[in-house]
Amino acid sequence: MTASRINTLRQEILAQINTATTLPDLEAVRVAALGKKGSITQLLKGVGSLPAEERKDFARDANILKNEVQDALQNRLSEVESLTLQATLASQRKDITLAARPGETGTIHPIIHTMEELISIYSELGFSYESGPDVEDDWHNFTALNIPEEHPARAMQDTFFMAEQRAGLHTVLRTQTSGVQIRTMESKKPPIRIIAPGRTYRSDYDMTHTPMFHQIEGLYIDKGVHFGHLKATLIEFCKRFFEVDELPVRFRPSFFPFTEPSAEVDIGCSWTDSGELVIGAGDGWLEILGCGMVHPKVLANCGIDPDEYQGFAFGMGIERPAMLKYGIPDLRGMFEADVRWLKHYGFSPYNNTALANE
Ligand code: DAH
Repeated sequence: MTASRINTLRQEILAQINTATTLPDLEAVRVAALGKKGSITQLLKGVGSLPAEERKDFARDANILKNEVQDALQNRLSEVESLTLQATLASQRKDITLAARPGETGTIHPIIHTMEELISIYSELGFSYESGPDVEDDWHNFTALNIPEEHPARAMQDTFFMAEQRAGLHTVLRTQTSGVQIRTMESKKPPIRIIAPGRTYRSDYDMTHTPMFHQIEGLYIDKGVHFGHLKATLIEFCKRFFEVDELPVRFRPSFFPFTEPSAEVDIGCSWTDSGELVIGAGDGWLEILGCGMVHPKVLANCGIDPDEYQGFAFGMGIERPAMLKYGIPDLRGMFEADVRWLKHYGFSPYNNTALANE
């Protein structure tokens, strides 16, 4: 009788354990069997009231049942936990094979891209990077560059004048990057071999001029530097930048107050019947930069002895060569921040290629 009671209880409890599918269900089964008032607890409590000859076997069987139930609960607990985890994973499943939604990718502005190209070409030729302030004083922008106060060259570079910050300190938005030459020669001893790309400003606005534009300046000062070094450097630069090995390059006499002699550099080109520009072939010429041997007065203004050191300098706008190289027709698009324009003419931030060519 008692043995069969234990067996019935075993079947009941084990069935409940095996059909419990959640942790709270399983806990309820445990409490009902092993809790203070649980069926097995009651069974064990009742041992004392049994006739003496039944007590030993009953107590042993009841304890076996208790252990069995405890083991079964433990096993089922692991199963239910793993079932719960699997259910959670299944319900939160993400399909990682789905194609990503096309995101908005920004582009590198053609000016920035071109500046980086210029920096890398000149660094291969041994020039290092320098920078100077956009708000420049009269000395660095004009006077030290041999452009005295009444010189007409100042009128050619009409700019934005800043309010006097200190008595006698006249500042302007720099009209050229040439001031960085002066700053570098004032602070460093020759040999000097630098380039300085950056923003410049002039009071101009039409089809081919914007009030803000970009230039790159170059300066090389050492003993025995001559015009041959200037020509070799700039010819090599033009070939690398325009990616034409046999590029015709012409040095045309010109004037800048801070160089003597001065020249303008033209590259060979032609136009197709439909008006398209072909760089490197034909009998046309395009002016791309100004250059010359640094004027002895400029060296002396920076405390460098012109009898001991010589050098050459050059200055180039960045917009025009960028437009020529990348087929950009209108200068003003460069500064209108039109996203469609940027998408078309910008460069991929990932592989530096023109997006329009992809
Ligand atoms: N600063 C000149 C300009 O804005 C360009 C230039 C010409 C710079 C000759 C130079 C140079 O350093 O040697 O037109």
